[in-house]
Amino acid sequence: MKAIITGGNKGIGLEIAKNLLNRGYEVHVLSRTGIDSPPDGIISWKTDVADYANTIKIVDTIGAANVLINNAGIMNTKTARDYQSAEDILHILNINLITAVRLSVHLAEQMAESGGGRIVSMGSIAGTIGHPDIWYGISKAGLVNAMRSLARTYGPRGVVANTVAPGPVETDMMKSIPEERKSRLKSTTINQRFCTAQEVAETTCWLATDAPAYINGEIIDMNNGMNYR
Ligand SMILES: NC(=O)c1ccc[n+]([C@@H]2O[C@H](COP(=O)([O-])OP(=O)(O)OC[C@H]3O[C@@H](n4cnc5c(N)ncnc54)[C@H](OP(=O)(O)O)[C@@H]3O)[C@@H](O)[C@H]2O)c1
Repeated sequence: MKAIITGGNKGIGLEIAKNLLNRGYEVHVLSRTGIDSPPDGIISWKTDVADYANTIKIVDTIGAANVLINNAGIMNTKTARDYQSAEDILHILNINLITAVRLSVHLAEQMAESGGGRIVSMGSIAGTIGHPDIWYGISKAGLVNAMRSLARTYGPRGVVANTVAPGPVETDMMKSIPEERKSRLKSTTINQRFCTAQEVAETTCWLATDAPAYINGEIIDMNNGMNYR
């Protein structure tokens, strides 16, 4: 059993990689900086997912995967007005959304041919709340719709595609958020704490493996009461 994780070399993605390894998967991790000396069973590939041509070449070299986790992502400390050029906008959309959707379609075709497979995308609470980084929020909302579309198109042929939408998680991505804002956000949760990367990984890997296939095109929110749908 083979799994591909974009952005699996640190943070949430690395926890997903370790979880799938423990479940017996051969795990392929795609990131710009890679993993130095990955554990046995985790294979690290270097690519910028914004470069789709190079990324798809790697994915085709890896060969038929049973699981795809679209986890690579960036968030900018920019407001809507700070995005001055189409290039700026396309950069974040390429990383967070466009490559993820193109990879998903590519692998869903293969999965459907071979009887099925599972895709999980890393969404975010940012996809529903109107995030200050407008294009980050849009990219996360787009993933939800893309997974739903794939579920409808490929679900009849055994492909299961879902989204996990966490609230804040203490990873490198959160380093740009001021402590005062983090405390304020934490205070809006039921348990006065952020989600851990391990908790997100557990949920993601459950959807990618043991979850009933009837859960298809869905979103699992993980924000501890910050934002009930
Ligand atoms: N932390 C949160 O509060 C939070 C909440 C909800 C959702 N999320 C989502 O969770 C996912 C993982 O984020 P994280 O919190 O674990 O942050 P992180 O520690 O910054 O990890 C981001 C991952 O994405 C990879 N990545 C970034 N740009 C890339 C590119 N151009 N090409 C290939 N890989 C790239 C990074 O690897 P390299 O830098 O080596 O390329 C890294 O593996 C993201 O999609 C994020 O939006 C995070």
